[in-house]
Amino acid sequence: MSDFPYSDAVKQHFLHPKNYLMGDESAFQYDGRGVAGNPVCGDEMIIMIKVKDDRITDIAWKTYGCASAIASTSALSELAKGQTLDQAAAITAQQVADYLGGLPEHKFHCSVLGFQALRAAVADYRGEAKASETPPTSPASPACRSGSHPSPHPAAAKYPPPPA
Ligand code: FES
Repeated sequence: MSDFPYSDAVKQHFLHPKNYLMGDESAFQYDGRGVAGNPVCGDEMIIMIKVKDDRITDIAWKTYGCASAIASTSALSELAKGQTLDQAAAITAQQVADYLGGLPEHKFHCSVLGFQALRAAVADYRGEAKASETPPTSPASPACRSGSHPSPHPAAAKYPPPPA
C-alpha cells in the first residue's frame, strides 16, 4: 500500500488534464473569462468558457497551481461542459472532490480555485463585474501546507494577462 495520498482519479487528471489550454489564450475564443487566486499559497486559476443558448459548449483553463488544483480543475471542466450556466455555477468544491474519489483534507481548498474561477467566468459572460475573484482564507480554504511546488507541470504555466 502506498503512502501517496491521492486517488487514482486525481493522478489521472493531474497527469492527463482535460480541457487544459495549451498555448496562448488567443487560441480560445471565449465568451466568458474568470480568474481566482489563493492569497495564502499564491496559486492562481483562469477558466474560459464558450456559451451557446445559455449552455457551456466548451471550456479551457490554465493554472499556476499544485497537483490538486490541476486535477480538480480538470475534473471541474468535465463536470461543467454541457451544463447550463446556472448548473455550472452551482458546482461545488465537494462535488469536484467526490468526482475525484476524494482529496486529502489539507488539499481540499485547492479545488476551490477552479469553481471560483468558473463562477467568475459565468459572471463575466453575463456582464457582471466579477471577472476576477479571490477566495477568502477560511476553514474551507486553509493555509497551504504543501510547501513549494517542486516540479513544473505543463498545466502550471503562468498565464498571460487578459487581452485589452
Ligand atoms: S491550490 Fe495552492 S497548494 Fe493547491
